[in-house]
Amino acid sequence: MSSGIQNKVVVITGASSGLGAETARHLAKAGAHVVLGARRIERLETLARELRLNPEAIQKTDVTDRSQVKSLVERAVTLHGRVDVLLNNAGLMPSSMLDKLKVDEWDRMIDVNIKGVLYGIAAVLPHMQKQMSGQIINVSSVAGHKVGPGGSVYAGTKWAVRAISEGLRQEVKPWNIRTTIVSPGAVATELISTITDSDIAAGMAKTYERAIPPSSFARVVEFAISQPEDVDINEVLFRPTSQVY
Ligand SMILES: NC(=O)c1ccc[n+]([C@@H]2O[C@H](COP(=O)([O-])OP(=O)(O)OC[C@H]3O[C@@H](n4cnc5c(N)ncnc54)[C@H](OP(=O)(O)O)[C@@H]3O)[C@@H](O)[C@H]2O)c1
Repeated sequence: MSSGIQNKVVVITGASSGLGAETARHLAKAGAHVVLGARRIERLETLARELRLNPEAIQKTDVTDRSQVKSLVERAVTLHGRVDVLLNNAGLMPSSMLDKLKVDEWDRMIDVNIKGVLYGIAAVLPHMQKQMSGQIINVSSVAGHKVGPGGSVYAGTKWAVRAISEGLRQEVKPWNIRTTIVSPGAVATELISTITDSDIAAGMAKTYERAIPPSSFARVVEFAISQPEDVDINEVLFRPTSQVY
């Protein structure tokens, strides 16, 4: 893997909206070969047309299904012969107070935000070990650093992402693999639309009034990928300048 972005093969999960879609735009413009997964295939088709991608560079992918994540990565390897970067980005945030007992939403967050990330790691590791290079970028959050009322389970998943990423970082040294955690604050995407607890939704809508555009995240990812191969950007935590917590 050379430094820079040009010609790198980048797999992005959750690429149908928000941070994933915007990062796909930035990286494709910078000359990367992006391979995009999400469940809403029609969104991916629109993005593929916008970016003039090979129609095979998108694949319907539910990250809670390990075989689908494996197949997305295989698609990248079939198309381009390698996988240089995985952006483990798919996630959801149906925050709620625990006593509302929205247990199905807790399960969903654990399945997508934690197990989906693990399935991504499982899918790329064998390829990256064989290549003796690669970069795994996991998306955590400010909520991976702090927790508040209503955010217990979401924060739990994002703390888990950081713990897994740090363990991964230490374990993959023999294969020259880089690991990056990106922890954003409030960025304007569809994320808060997954909140069904009306009290939490109202508070969150207020916080997100000052959300910054997804390009803020895409630039961080570009920065991490474009470093020389001997530089491993391990974590970037960023917020809107106006965000207090
Ligand atoms: N926006 C923020 O303020 C913020 C802050 C900190 C962290 N984050 C994190 O950033 C990541 C991206 O979120 P976003 O802000 O861009 O929100 P978003 O606009 O709602 O995008 C979420 C993406 O995840 C995908 N997704 C959800 N469930 C999935 C599943 N089972 N399988 C595959 N893909 C799935 C969605 O695609 P489909 O529905 O088409 O499958 C969508 O593309 C998440 O991990 C989120 O926790 C966001």
